[in-house]
Amino acid sequence: MADPVRAGLPFLPYGRQSVEEDDIAAVAAVLRGDWLTQGPAVAAFERALAKWVGAGRVGAVEAVACANGTAALRLAYAALGIGPGDAVVVPSNTFLATASAARHAGAEVAFADVDPDSGLMGVAEAEAAIARAAKAGWRVRALAPVHYAGQTAPMAGLVALAQAEGLALVEDACHAIGTVDLSGGDRADGQEAPVGAGHAEVEAGSLTVFSFHPVKTIAAGEGGAVTGTDPALMARVRRLCNHGMMRDPGEGEAFADPDAALDAGGKPNPWYYEMAEPGFNHRLSDIHAALVLSQLGRLDRFIGRRAALMALYAERLAPLAPLVRPPALVPWCRPAWHLCAARIDFEAAGRTRSAVMTALRALGVGTQVHYIPVHRQPYWRRRYGDLALPGAMSHYAHTLSLPLFPAMADGDVDRVAAALERVLS
Ligand SMILES: Cc1ncc(COP(=O)(O)O)c(C=O)c1O
Repeated sequence: MADPVRAGLPFLPYGRQSVEEDDIAAVAAVLRGDWLTQGPAVAAFERALAKWVGAGRVGAVEAVACANGTAALRLAYAALGIGPGDAVVVPSNTFLATASAARHAGAEVAFADVDPDSGLMGVAEAEAAIARAAKAGWRVRALAPVHYAGQTAPMAGLVALAQAEGLALVEDACHAIGTVDLSGGDRADGQEAPVGAGHAEVEAGSLTVFSFHPVKTIAAGEGGAVTGTDPALMARVRRLCNHGMMRDPGEGEAFADPDAALDAGGKPNPWYYEMAEPGFNHRLSDIHAALVLSQLGRLDRFIGRRAALMALYAERLAPLAPLVRPPALVPWCRPAWHLCAARIDFEAAGRTRSAVMTALRALGVGTQVHYIPVHRQPYWRRRYGDLALPGAMSHYAHTLSLPLFPAMADGDVDRVAAALERVLS
């Protein structure tokens, strides 16, 4: 008899992109056109993303598209002038890149603890990290809250902390495209706003970074973006993304040879460019931009389907409590869910996580762990020793990301819940 859990059904990965025919047509159109990189698709995607995170207010937010989320982090830290002698506060419950990009800038990383249930860095955890950094003699320059799984860190408090301490803000929103921050009371305009609209009131600078990796809510293949509202800061992000090059003599500093910059009519010479600081090539290609622009058109639909699946999970997992609990909800945002990071009491179930993952896999259910706390990585342990971050360790011990992607059917959630019940009982 067919297994009622598996029943010949396809394997369910923990995340998967949703590519449709219009995505394929959009990419094919670029391949048939004149531009493979930095053409009209990149510009159109930047405009559309800026409009989306600016809640439709054209011109309120600027977006710079780039190669991936890691590149976006590097650009953000570099544009804020973070470098050797500085430190960035990074929650330990994140992907490697939030910390590595700070280190690439030459900065130290002041790892912060997280709430063991939500996996998010709060104000108290950020303050403790700042205090530890001060003891180490580091100059803390920025907070880098991570909007884990699609829920925002408590931004009202973190914005206030950044202002009080004169820190910049780099929001790692790689999980949170489409999430709405409801803590509008602290925003200059008092509005709730999609993540990425920025916090203009943060004097030391505020930037948000996104990833469009295929497991994220919208996919570019590889892709990322930086958004912000400060024109000078965003101009620096844009320059750094493309070798630090400037083509407009008005934008440049004193060019070594002004004759080379301008023609007889006072217009820039066609070959002219200048460089005020070394940048990167972190550009997005038009091929990737066409895909992610097409996907952006379906972001609302993706968010809606993910929300519906999460509501179903809450229902179907309820009978498995207290062994299994759905992700802990925070009140200050309307999440665009990226991960269904369930919390499982493996000890009480008498099964190791490894055994549970293997057994689920045998039943056709893929899972993943987000994340091994970054401060436990050998590189960081060699650098800083063994930090005590109990919230991050507790979150790590209990977390298991269950399948969540828009093409899942309602029945797939039943299947995951039934598989979990079987494996844990
Ligand atoms: C929280 C977080 N930050 C940064 C990144 C880096 O993004 P990318 O993989 O696009 O470089 C990721 C993606 O895995 C992420 O999940």
